[in-house]
Amino acid sequence: MIAKNKLRKLWYSLSAGQRHAVRRLYYFPADFIDGISGKRGKYVPPRGIVYTGGTGDPEEFVKQGNHQLNLLKEHIDLQPADAVLDIGSGIGRTAIALVDHLDSTGSYEGFDVVELGVNWCNKKIGKDHPNFNFTYVPLFNDLYNTKAGKASEFEFPYQGDRFDKIFSFSVFTHMGVDEIQNYLKESKRVLTDGGQCLSTFFIYDDSNEAYITSNDRFSFPFKKERFRLMDENVTAGNIAIHKDLLNEMMKHAGFSEVKVIDGFWKDEVRDQKKQEYQDIVIYS
Ligand SMILES: C[S@@+](CC[C@H](N)C(=O)[O-])C[C@H]1O[C@@H](n2cnc3c(N)ncnc32)[C@H](O)[C@@H]1O
Repeated sequence: MIAKNKLRKLWYSLSAGQRHAVRRLYYFPADFIDGISGKRGKYVPPRGIVYTGGTGDPEEFVKQGNHQLNLLKEHIDLQPADAVLDIGSGIGRTAIALVDHLDSTGSYEGFDVVELGVNWCNKKIGKDHPNFNFTYVPLFNDLYNTKAGKASEFEFPYQGDRFDKIFSFSVFTHMGVDEIQNYLKESKRVLTDGGQCLSTFFIYDDSNEAYITSNDRFSFPFKKERFRLMDENVTAGNIAIHKDLLNEMMKHAGFSEVKVIDGFWKDEVRDQKKQEYQDIVIYS
């Protein structure tokens, strides 16, 4: 069997456009069957356009969104009346779950660098729920697009003190350190006093660096200055950040409370008590 790392490398060697095309083609038969059997819910995208990863199986997509909602409720006390910001909203996985959680006094804003996902969400979710809005931001990310804008200089398109809760699932695992630093700074600006944030990361420290460098399942062979890359050519492929650097970045952005809940991605033997693959970081 080809090791997962090798398959991933092959996948990364394709351009973003080629990856989209392969995916559509590969899942065309399953999408056709989902369509005629009515398996896919109203807001759930066909597997072929779930460019954010995974099999895109409709039931699994909804289940994962509900799991994310549960994490938000448990760790940052997400309330129905909250104003929330979803950084890297993708193709609506989290938003679909939030439709049933936020009430009409709550509001949702999401933004993303892939227009296809933003358009799908506005056309499906935004159309039925005026308090849900998705914004396309044409910023470069070598895993997802070829746009010119710089995430490291991007100003979030919202006024200050606007959001009670800010979250990002599997987004800071696909961005450069300077870009993440800017997003943390911007998050601090648009977060209300007393607001809370939750983001997932790949975080390591000296005790597990050797394991995450070279295991044949999910590893980061390329060492940089207190961070590691999975693929040196597609730098947004996946990034892991040393815990000391994370703490420094949080402090620099003005966040004083930072809690890391370890995920099982770096377990040599999976700890079944862990809820999430990636590491969850809660900060305020
Ligand atoms: C693995 S997907 C996760 C999507 C979504 N959060 C979810 O859980 O389904 C990563 C997302 O981050 C988006 N992304 C990458 N760089 C970004 C940036 N600089 N600003 C906003 N979104 C970005 C990608 O387009 C993609 O939708």
